[in-house]
Amino acid sequence: MHSPSCGGRTLVAALTVCALSCPVGVGAGVSEELAVQSILEAVKAFRIVYSKGVVEQVRKSGIKPSENWKADDHAIMLNAQFVKAAGAEIKEFELGLIGLTPLYKSNMPKTQAETDALKKMENDPELKVLTFVDGNQFKGLAADYAIVQACADCHNTHPNSTRKNFRQGDLMGAIVVRIKR
Ligand code: HEC
Repeated sequence: MHSPSCGGRTLVAALTVCALSCPVGVGAGVSEELAVQSILEAVKAFRIVYSKGVVEQVRKSGIKPSENWKADDHAIMLNAQFVKAAGAEIKEFELGLIGLTPLYKSNMPKTQAETDALKKMENDPELKVLTFVDGNQFKGLAADYAIVQACADCHNTHPNSTRKNFRQGDLMGAIVVRIKR
């Protein structure tokens, strides 16, 4: 979402790095890497289409994204809810959104490795995607930035917010994919 055009390059780069530096005999590692990178790429694409194609279009007729969209005839789900709802439909692997200061406990990193990965991304804006083995899962995180001020504003003012100083450009969290090994 942040930089839709760099995904392909990221994937190629990741596979190249793995091909060059992964120990012999980890063929499975390459396919896990490919699977996770591809899923992240697809999720980012669907989210962009939802934002640009659905949210922006219906806004013209006064329909807005709202957290409580189900109770409002003139509202549709938030981008984050769209991703989480898709994740809830998936049985084969886990798809979600996480953050270091999330609005809901369900969006907490699940392990120390996920927390560390988010912190790494926060400290290095060039790090758009991180993949790693974590216990019996292979995981991928795609950085999620406050690309517009509205991201920061809504999170800062949400009743559950524990962090109220997000600004445009800040890392807000990441899309996470967890697949079985
Ligand atoms: C109108 C309010 C609103 C806007 C605008 C908004 N969000 Fe959120 N965001 C939420 C809510 C509410 C959740 C929790 C959804 C849930 O878990 O059911 C959430 C969840 C998230 C999460 C998961 C971690 C957490 O904080 O719970 C990330 C990451 C995130 N949003 C990033 C963004 C980004 C990036 C943007 C802008 C492109 C954005 N949000 C715009 C309300 C908003």
